[in-house]
Amino acid sequence: MINIRNATESDLDAVCSMENEWMPSPWSRQGFESELSNSFSHFLVAENENGIAGYAVAWRVAGELQLNRILIHASQRRRGIGRALLENLARRLTPSPHSRILIEVRSKNLEARSFYRAAGFVETGRRRRYYGGDDAMLMELKIK
Ligand SMILES: CC(C)(COP(=O)(O)OP(=O)(O)OC[C@H]1O[C@@H](n2cnc3c(N)ncnc32)[C@H](O)[C@@H]1OP(=O)(O)O)[C@@H](O)C(=O)NCCC(=O)NCCS
Repeated sequence: MINIRNATESDLDAVCSMENEWMPSPWSRQGFESELSNSFSHFLVAENENGIAGYAVAWRVAGELQLNRILIHASQRRRGIGRALLENLARRLTPSPHSRILIEVRSKNLEARSFYRAAGFVETGRRRRYYGGDDAMLMELKIK
């Protein structure tokens, strides 16, 4: 059973340890701490019987959400947890013709691109060499 809730200070050990293990350019603990008090940030964790299974950080800017982080523990992937985090974020937006979730994803991160496509995101552009040796794909999901 998966429970999605707002992150708290006591989740930061688990979040930072996953971040350091799997993200190529990990955010610092201080970075996550500031997200806890940031008024336009949605910092969510997904919890199950094994503890923190994943997390997401998105910034609300006008009617849009910029998704900055989403990560699921490697042992917990392909169980719908990433999708559940996305759906929770989408419900935080008021549906309108302008509501959308935006992301930038490394072009070589084919797993994430498949994940976003499966959730209904479409590719809207590419920023060449945005990540040094890799391009950023811009993707968006409209929330109508
Ligand atoms: C991308 C990520 C968040 C997906 O999380 P997840 O919980 O495993 O995804 P879900 O189980 O909700 O997947 C939903 C659907 O997305 C697609 N999908 C997810 N992972 C996929 C993969 N590795 N390959 C192909 N399709 C995939 C599938 O259609 C899947 O449905 P299915 O399992 O019924 O086939 C996870 O792989 C992850 O944490 N990756 C490392 C961090 C990362 O790259 N984050 C994104 C940075 S932009």
